[in-house]
Amino acid sequence: MSSTELAREALPQRIKRKVKRALGPWGVFLEGFIRHPVMVGSIVPSSRFTIRKMLAPVDWENCKLFVEYGPGVGTFCQPVLDRLPRDGALIVIDTNPDFIDYLRHQFTDSRFTAVLGSAADVEDIVRSHGHEKADYVLSGLPFSTLPDGVGPAIAAATYRVIRKGGAFLVYQFTPRARHFMARHFLRIDHKMEMINVPPCFMYWGWKDED
Ligand SMILES: C[S@@+](CC[C@H](N)C(=O)[O-])C[C@H]1O[C@@H](n2cnc3c(N)ncnc32)[C@H](O)[C@@H]1O
Repeated sequence: MSSTELAREALPQRIKRKVKRALGPWGVFLEGFIRHPVMVGSIVPSSRFTIRKMLAPVDWENCKLFVEYGPGVGTFCQPVLDRLPRDGALIVIDTNPDFIDYLRHQFTDSRFTAVLGSAADVEDIVRSHGHEKADYVLSGLPFSTLPDGVGPAIAAATYRVIRKGGAFLVYQFTPRARHFMARHFLRIDHKMEMINVPPCFMYWGWKDED
């Protein structure tokens, strides 16, 4: 290949890199969506209104382990770390290696761990990081587009891993996640956030009994 051909081929790559850099985390998220639309399920990260409302009911003083499924580019991670006690821990789990690589570079807080894996394996992941139970689990997973059987398996594993008094926090663009939660969580609070693209449904499933 001649040097002119090489330069011509490299141009789209250079433009792509520049656009991605200019967009920051949005660029990483958009690329993740283009590569895996079904698994990512959204084109824009959650709004700060969604984040604030979603995290409001958490009893932070008594939160030792907070787990997040599907962190994407970490929209919730800093707000969670800002609220978490100094001896607390945040474990995030995502199936997308590009997001996990990005998060590992982005967050150097010693309380933060990014795991490449599936939320369905949350019990093994929590145990292998030295914890018995999680206080809270937050999910941004696209429950309605996950492969058959994965949603129910994740809801069951999540119920088992949460301690009594803890909660499963779920935000989604459809109310479908509630069906999966309701098989295990008997008390579910809900709200909507309109200032989000698109507006989203929010659920808090409380584990009242062991
Ligand atoms: C809608 S995006 C999350 C957006 C992000 N939390 C936010 O607030 O902007 C869904 C994420 O779930 C991840 N994901 C999909 N299936 C998963 C699974 N089984 N376990 C863990 N993460 C998964 C995708 O890779 C993607 O990062």
